[in-house]
Formats: sequence, structure tokens, C-alpha cells
Amino acid sequence: MSKRQALSSWRKLQTLAQTKKTQHMNDLFAEDNQRFKKFSIELPSMLLDYSKNLIDSETLTALLQLAEQTQVCQWREKMFRGDKINQTEDRAVLHTALRRDHQQPLIVDGENISEHVQAQLEKMEAFVNTVREGHWLGYSGKRITDIVNIGVGGSNLGPQMVTEGLKHYSDNSVNVHYVSNVDGAQIVEILRPLDPEKVLFIVSSKTFTTTETMTNAKTAINWLTAASFDQKSVAKHFVAVTANKDNAMSFGIKAENIFDMWDWVGGRFSLWSAIGLPIALDLGFEQFKALLAGAQAMDEHFLEAPLAENMPVIMALLSVWNTTFLGAQSQAILPYDQTLHMLTAYLQQAEMESNGKSVTWHGDEVDYATVPSIWGELGINGQHAFYQYLHQSNNIVPADFIGSVASVTPVKGHHETLMANFFAQTQALMSGVNEQQVRADLKAKGRTADYIDKVAPHKVHKGNRPTNTILLNQIDPETLGGLIALYEQKIFVQGIVLQICSFDQWGVELGKGLAASIQQELENADCENQHDSSTQNLIKYYKTHKSA
Ligand code: F6P
Repeated sequence: MSKRQALSSWRKLQTLAQTKKTQHMNDLFAEDNQRFKKFSIELPSMLLDYSKNLIDSETLTALLQLAEQTQVCQWREKMFRGDKINQTEDRAVLHTALRRDHQQPLIVDGENISEHVQAQLEKMEAFVNTVREGHWLGYSGKRITDIVNIGVGGSNLGPQMVTEGLKHYSDNSVNVHYVSNVDGAQIVEILRPLDPEKVLFIVSSKTFTTTETMTNAKTAINWLTAASFDQKSVAKHFVAVTANKDNAMSFGIKAENIFDMWDWVGGRFSLWSAIGLPIALDLGFEQFKALLAGAQAMDEHFLEAPLAENMPVIMALLSVWNTTFLGAQSQAILPYDQTLHMLTAYLQQAEMESNGKSVTWHGDEVDYATVPSIWGELGINGQHAFYQYLHQSNNIVPADFIGSVASVTPVKGHHETLMANFFAQTQALMSGVNEQQVRADLKAKGRTADYIDKVAPHKVHKGNRPTNTILLNQIDPETLGGLIALYEQKIFVQGIVLQICSFDQWGVELGKGLAASIQQELENADCENQHDSSTQNLIKYYKTHKSA
């Protein structure tokens, strides 16, 4: 038995899970008309209603006790003060330092990192203003109209998700594009309409070794120099964001055009650093600062609110309850705001790359379910695609519904239709409809007894499907910053409670290493490595058909 399972709160939750599984949320609501009041948290720019979960006060008390027994508060303090809580990489975890008050020193390994962060922010601001005001000129003296960000994973998803989320706030001083895939189809299509004289590339890579990004960067350099006939033009059209300056310089990028990343910022938590440059270029620096301020406000809430009123803590505990104790295997993220159409993809990396692990931070195999797989889509599109599964399959999928009170692009009648669906779905998932109700309804509609017998079982919805509702006042830079930080801190708490090292990602290395050796085989007719017979024959088929 693991140390977690030996905790009294853990054992209590295991017992509770057995009885709660047999309860229906309809009854919990009928018994207690204070559920919403008890199980919701309101902050200045957002509301979390978690009353539609299979919990009651007893369960919540045990979950909060679990947070205490697993020392969430102590670990939170360690993270914020810069202790090396990324144990396997021996690194601090300080994305929060990117959005705190930089006048306050924060010493890590003997250095005041607040000063470094402040210096980079100033460098970013100057750069952003120069480009947006048209003072940054390309090799032929023309102003920059288009930014192409080259990066993948954390060097892509966060900035792109926010750019999409805040499109409405862009003044279109520049157009921002993203290249992440090494499939040439993407970069070719993005570059096709662009004028090399007016494009600025940002090569974003913490390591500056990621094959996909390096390949795209080389293609971009070739595209530029094919037009400029001058290798030196690279210096005027490329900037980099990286912790590996030497590699960036070997691409011909000037030292002064390289923005810093630090080993205490994980890639998937890096949009608050210079990795967020495309956001700032698109929206202007003031809006970027508002994004940081929103995240900082959420950090303050996370640090100060009692556990029972702490949004990230509650969301993490609910995830643990639903997954580890009630047995859910996946979690849907369902934004009802078009602007958040990339949120699910972003959270897939944030949560699954962080906590998709199966050994504790001591290296012992965990003997309990850890995190669910994250999936989803814009809610309305999902309703007409996979919600059938959410309502009636025999897998229970807890879901986060995220919507906003006011639309940033109001069009008569649209927002109410959207939000009517938003509210209806969580009610339907929770309450369902039983056979008696189905039969009565069909009878009232004048259906025959035979028809009712045939169709009634198919129309039953068992309900009792847990949802969280996050209602934002409006999508704006501050609120979005807060929402992202909410999930970041939720992921951190989940990791602590489950004893998972959330800040490494060893699981991506094996495939990367294999791909490098297979690439040699694909490029070289005589090269054949040893593989299992499936992989061997797939490669053989590929090479044979390619040469044919
Ligand atoms: O392979 C996974 C990963 O390391 C992510 O963690 C990271 O966000 C992404 O690749 C990109 O890494 P880099 O910024 O170093 O190119």
C-alpha cells in the first residue's frame, strides 16, 4: 500500500466512494436547497459552480483533509519561493515569478530572478513597440506586416490559444501566424501569401534542439534568403526565444534579438515569458500586461484563500475524487465561447504532460488511478457530435463547462441561444430523465403503447454525470489570464495530492530518440536498423512505395 493510501482521509474517501456511487445528485439537490451556495466560489471575474458533482459536505470535508494531509499548502509555499520541486530535473518551478510584482526580489541559486524577468519584460516591450509602430524594417527597408511564430508544444499552444482567445482585442497592427507541425504542408500554406520583405519570424524553443522547430526554422531561412539573396537578411527577419542562446546564434540570429527563457520555466507554463511575444505583438504590450495581471490575481487567490474557498484547490480535489475514487477515466473540457476554441488542446498538454505519469516522486509505482485523459471541443459543436456519449454511454465523463456572461462580439439573439444550451446541458447531464417520465411524456404526446414499449428504454437518461460550470464575466486579457492560471494551479495541486512529479516530461523522450534513428533509415536506402516485425515492415513498405 502506498503512503497516500495509508492516509486516514484517503481511506475515508475510499469508503465514501462506495456509498456515494449509489446516490443520485437529484436526491442530493432535493435534500439540500443550499447546495449551490455551499458548493460554489465567486471571484471578481468568474464563478465556479461545482454543486453538480457527486459530493456532499462529508465528502468535501474528507477531500479538504486530504489536501491538508498531503501538505498542499507547504508545497505551494515551496513552489512560490523557488524550491527545486521539479525533483527529477532538479529545477525550481517559477512560472509564477513571471507575473508577480517584480519590485519584490526573488532569489534563486543566489540570483534575484525578479531583475531578470523585469529586464526581459522591458526588452519585450521595446521590441513589440518597435515592430508594431513600423520602425522594425526588413532587409529591403519595408515595415513588418506579418509575424510567423515557429514552435511546438508549450512554445506554440499557449501563445496560439491566447491569440485566438483575444482576437477581438487585436488592432491588426500585424498579422500573427503559427507554424508548429513539421509536415511541410503547414509552413508552405502559411508562407505562400506572405511577402518575405515584410515577415518577421520568431523561433520559439526553450531547448533550441526540437527537431520539428529546427526543421521549420531552416525552411523559413531558406524561404527568406531565396528572396533576399543575402544570408545576412536573417538578422533582420528572425528573433528567437530560448534558454540555448548558442544554438540560436548558430542559425544567424543576432544575440540582441534573442529573448531569454530560464530552466525554472517549464515549456507548457511559459506563455507568460517571452514565449508570449506573438501575443504581445498582436495585442500590444498593455494587453499582455493585463494577461499577466489576471494570472497574478489568480495566484494571489490561490495563495491566500482558505482551502475550502480556493478555486484551484477545489477543482483539483474534484478531479481526484472523480478519477481516483469514483473511477472516471477521462475529463471533458467544453468551452462555450468560440474564442476559447483552442483551450482543450492547450489543457491537454498542460494536464496530461504534467500529470500523465505512473510513478510517485520517490519512483514507486502508483497503485491508484491518477489523471484522466483530457478531451473535448467547443460545446455547441460537441453537442452535435459526441454529447450523445456524455449523456447515455456507460462511461461517466466529468466535464468542465466554460462560458461567459457577456459576449465580446454581441450579435442579436446569438448569445442567449448559446448560453441556453450551456445551462441546459449541465442540468440534463445531472438530472437525466427516468423511464417513468419518458413513458408519461410519450403518452401525453399520444403515442401508442407498442411504440412506448419499444422506444422508452432508448430515451432514458440516467443523469448523475458530474460537471463544473465556470462562468466568466467576459473574455478579456485579465479574465483569460486568470482562467489559465486557475488550471495551472489546479494541475499543481493534483500533482501534489497524487504524488506525481508534474514538471518533467520523460515520457516524450523515448519516441523522440527512436524517430531520430528511424529518420536516418528513411533518408538512406542502405540503412536498416533492428525493429519489431511490425515497425520493420511498415518502414520497408514506406521505402519501397516511395522509391516506386
Ligand atoms: O517534447 C515535448 C516538449 O519538450 C514539451 O514539453 C515542450 O513544450 C515542447 O516539447 C517544445 O520544446 P522546446 O520549447 O524546447 O522546443
